[in-house]
Amino acid sequence: MRLCHSLALLPVASAFQLPFKVPFFNSPGQQPLRTPPIRVAIIGAGAAGTSATFWIAKAQERFGIDVEVDLYEKESYVGGRSTVVYPYGNTSLPAVELGASIFVKANKNLWRAVEEFNLTRRDFRDQSGMGIWDGEKLLFTASGGWWSWWDSAKALLRYGFHSPRRTQVFVDSMIQQFLSLYSPETPKWENMTHLSSSLGWTNLITQTTSEYLKSQGVSYKFISELVEASTRVNYGQNADGIHALEGACSLAPTGASSVEGGNFQIFENFLKHSTANVYLNTSVRSIISSSGQYVLDSDRGSETYQAVILAAPWHSTNIQLPTEISSKIPLQPYVHLHVTLFTTTLSSVPAQSFSLPASTKIPPMLLTTFEGARNGGKEPDFNSMSYHGPISDSEWVVKIFSLKRISEKWLSKMFDGKIGWVHRKEWDAYPVLPPTASFPELKLAPGFYYVNSFEPFISTMETETLASRNIVDMLLRDMFDAGICPTAPSSDTDKEDYVFGWDC
Ligand SMILES: Cc1cc2nc3c(=O)[nH]c(=O)nc-3n(C[C@H](O)[C@H](O)[C@H](O)COP(=O)(O)OP(=O)(O)OC[C@H]3O[C@@H](n4cnc5c(N)ncnc54)[C@H](O)[C@@H]3O)c2cc1C
Ligand SMILES: *[C@@H]1O[C@H](CO)[C@@H](O)[C@H](O)[C@H]1NC(C)=O
Ligand SMILES: *[C@@H]1O[C@H](CO)[C@@H](O)[C@H](O)[C@H]1NC(C)=O
Ligand SMILES: *[C@@H]1O[C@H](CO)[C@@H](O)[C@H](O)[C@H]1NC(C)=O
Ligand SMILES: *[C@@H]1O[C@H](CO)[C@@H](O)[C@H](O)[C@H]1NC(C)=O
Repeated sequence: MRLCHSLALLPVASAFQLPFKVPFFNSPGQQPLRTPPIRVAIIGAGAAGTSATFWIAKAQERFGIDVEVDLYEKESYVGGRSTVVYPYGNTSLPAVELGASIFVKANKNLWRAVEEFNLTRRDFRDQSGMGIWDGEKLLFTASGGWWSWWDSAKALLRYGFHSPRRTQVFVDSMIQQFLSLYSPETPKWENMTHLSSSLGWTNLITQTTSEYLKSQGVSYKFISELVEASTRVNYGQNADGIHALEGACSLAPTGASSVEGGNFQIFENFLKHSTANVYLNTSVRSIISSSGQYVLDSDRGSETYQAVILAAPWHSTNIQLPTEISSKIPLQPYVHLHVTLFTTTLSSVPAQSFSLPASTKIPPMLLTTFEGARNGGKEPDFNSMSYHGPISDSEWVVKIFSLKRISEKWLSKMFDGKIGWVHRKEWDAYPVLPPTASFPELKLAPGFYYVNSFEPFISTMETETLASRNIVDMLLRDMFDAGICPTAPSSDTDKEDYVFGWDC
């Protein structure tokens, strides 16, 4: 399907038309009136691929470069790992995120996109309390929003003053560094090692979250409870397994938001504001290189391109690549996550379901730690279980993330048989992220770029838009004498809400 094909949408600033650098060979005596456009194929309509079309459109707007973009997506929807379902399949009811659900203010591309595209931001409902379950005991409960859990009198009593404070300092300084990626002086990285060192994060990606926080004087109890609860709900991994950079990301959801009706609308709008031809329901099967170009074979036949942007984790795509390219992509395991969405008429999980005294109030967001299992106890059956607002006076949507299938029997037992609609989805959600010192390359061959090389560093919707911004900039510098932005910064770079790529 062609979502949009209107080159006329964008003004072509031909005054700035730039020559492209790729040579074209015409048959002798034949002089074309104009050089054909550079053809770029993008594979994947998730955060990475759709934002790539948008960044290219920004360069077209600014420089009038002659590029034709085809975007291929094997599914029939835009959004990839960011998509929604409706309780009972009833679109009059509020949409529920099935994949990526939250982003924060420091995620400036998504934040800005919501504003520019007139979407509605909704504060993520995390105000009404959380608990940490270890499989046998409810270790900690708190009411209020995210950081208030850490600062509450109860937290002070259980974890002391220094551990929450030191963790907060760590997260804040990581975010401060992260924000430099939107400034006019943002680094342009050629590989992830380069980016990691320019942000000063090498010691974060080479240590586990536990090791790093321990070295900062954070107590084991705090790490194995609040910190691990966060790494498990956000990345399905434990604090002693996941590297400290991704650990910090999972600790940062202050002011978490999502888009009313679904985050995928951001990605639909990236496409709407681009000039790309969008082919949904169209699997790419193979790519071969031929005389310095790429021949891409898909459900709609063969097409030739000067550049390819692969915007999906390669191992999950079933795309055949030339060995000299595929051999450069290290095997990357992903966390295979089960998402179980359902409705119930119980306003909270009965305490008896957890074999707890009937008087215990089970909080609407239940996170977990592996610490019980580490000490020989029972492993929690799920990573997180959270109530997501009512769909009527007496029915709620609940979301469970788990590494194993949640059976009907289990649901029925836990919720006293009071289950309505059930929807299951299995995702290869995010990379398994142990400490590492090496990453996949961004440019796998001349003209062949791999956006998801960013994911083993950080895997979020926002960072995929940053990874594609960097890659599009690299592609444009390789093919034309321009990136996304003019080299001289614009006059309003001092503005606090300046976002590189949007405002340059
Ligand atoms: C349950 C869950 C919760 C998450 N929570 C959050 C969160 O709260 N916040 C956050 O920021 N991130 C979250 N994430 C991570 C986030 O979803 C990803 O980091 C991000 O969406 C990845 O975007 P992408 O475009 O790189 O990849 P994808 O979204 O996976 O897009 C790749 C696309 O390529 C397509 N494709 C694959 N093979 C082919 C082929 N052969 N031909 C054509 N098309 C193909 C796929 O169908 C897919 O649409 C979550 C993920 C999951 C699964
Ligand atoms: C995609 O294919 C499915 C099944 O072949 C079809 O039902 C659906 O309408 C198609 N969607 C689009 C957007 O083309
Ligand atoms: C869908 O939900 C709306 C709002 O609750 C309700 O009025 C309507 O009857 C539902 N539709 C169906 C088909 O159940
Ligand atoms: C968003 O709304 C503003 C003000 O109503 C309007 O000027 C602008 O064109 C809208 N943008 C889009 C993308 O619809
Ligand atoms: C990464 O990029 C930097 C800066 O461009 C370069 O100096 C370095 O050699 C590259 N490293 C690898 C491993 O490619």
